Amino acid sequence: MENRKHDFIVSDFRGVTPVIMPMKKNIPRYLMEGNNNNDLHISPSTRFQGSKRKILPWLHEIFGDLQFNTVLDAFGGTGCVSYLLKRMGKKVTFNDCFRWNYILGQAIISNNCVTISDNDINQILSPRDDYPWGKVVSNNFKDIYYLDSENEWIDTVTTNILELSGYTNKILRYKKALAFYALFQACLVKRPFNLFHRKNLNLRLRDVPRSFGNKTTWDKPFADWFRLFIEEANCLVFSSQNICRTINSDVFKINPSCYDIVYLDPPYVKKARERSSTKYLRYYHFLEGLATYHSWADRIDFSTRNRRMKESCKEIPFTPNKVIDSFDQLFKKYENSTIVVSYKAGGIPSVDTLKRLLKKYKNNVRLITKPYTYALNRQNGDKKLNRECVLIGE
Ligand SMILES: C[S@@+](CC[C@H](N)C(=O)[O-])C[C@H]1O[C@@H](n2cnc3c(N)ncnc32)[C@H](O)[C@@H]1O
Repeated sequence: MENRKHDFIVSDFRGVTPVIMPMKKNIPRYLMEGNNNNDLHISPSTRFQGSKRKILPWLHEIFGDLQFNTVLDAFGGTGCVSYLLKRMGKKVTFNDCFRWNYILGQAIISNNCVTISDNDINQILSPRDDYPWGKVVSNNFKDIYYLDSENEWIDTVTTNILELSGYTNKILRYKKALAFYALFQACLVKRPFNLFHRKNLNLRLRDVPRSFGNKTTWDKPFADWFRLFIEEANCLVFSSQNICRTINSDVFKINPSCYDIVYLDPPYVKKARERSSTKYLRYYHFLEGLATYHSWADRIDFSTRNRRMKESCKEIPFTPNKVIDSFDQLFKKYENSTIVVSYKAGGIPSVDTLKRLLKKYKNNVRLITKPYTYALNRQNGDKKLNRECVLIGE
């Protein structure tokens, strides 16, 4: 496929089943980020490092030109690529090594029909007196990310989600996943930079003129955001003609057989940067904590100012000194499938090295590129240097 100029307007989403729900009038415009001029929800709204949401139309074109039924989204993240593939009628397996991402996948990829009712929302938002796992957020995160009353709200809602009852186990699993989806999104939207990498509640509270962020967004009550994101999550649920699955595994431990395509969008390792964006746990440890609430308190690293989670070994292969080996191992592991890799220029390894590695296992390797501006990372400050790449090995 040759390079073509595409814009990011979604109106040319050819071949994708039309989205079930028209936009609700009270949903703010930013929820449609990347979907401007289109009054349909087409993907989860995300504010996540490395999310491919804005280039979904381009990925749709690329996947549309390939013949396949089964696909593994090995580094699923927010699930927006899996969601596109589900919309395309493919048999999707979503994977991510983190529990909170896995829960997002359960909510919108493997879930075909369960939604959250008003009654569920009332149950989840009810006050409570008993906290079987303690008030993990209130007790450990005072003055770090949210106000005291907000920490208390998070503890209550998390406990209520975990204690939700009145349905079969299968239905409950999806109801809880949808509720967590809304909780995670609400937590993200109320954070400066949408991250948990610093103790910086004061950024939100200071009474100063601001050149970034949105104080109104940060100060809007959690419960309002939660209701809004429940609505969004419900809108995303649809029944696909194929069974879609969600797994929670290290990418190196997945059984590689049975996928026509394996889509790889691994953590990006920046060149010559000590602090690379591979550390998803450092950015999103708070959400991982909510997703593993029962054991969170034992995993907090109290030596850190922002109470992050003790490092997990899962991400280690995507560090500057190991990343080339990791790609090599991945390509070898999935050599019996068509391999589609999302990448961007300027990282480690270089695009040429990646191409060379892929050629070790695949006869036909193609590179498709597109200029792109990243919301959270304006590489080298120069838009022209930002190139989104897709490598296809067949
Ligand atoms: C670049 S992001 C993927 C973004 C995703 N395509 C999207 O559009 O939302 C990389 C993801 O890989 C996950 N990850 C990192 N190391 C992993 C590993 N060893 N196995 C599986 N997932 C991993 C991270 O949790 C993160 O969600």
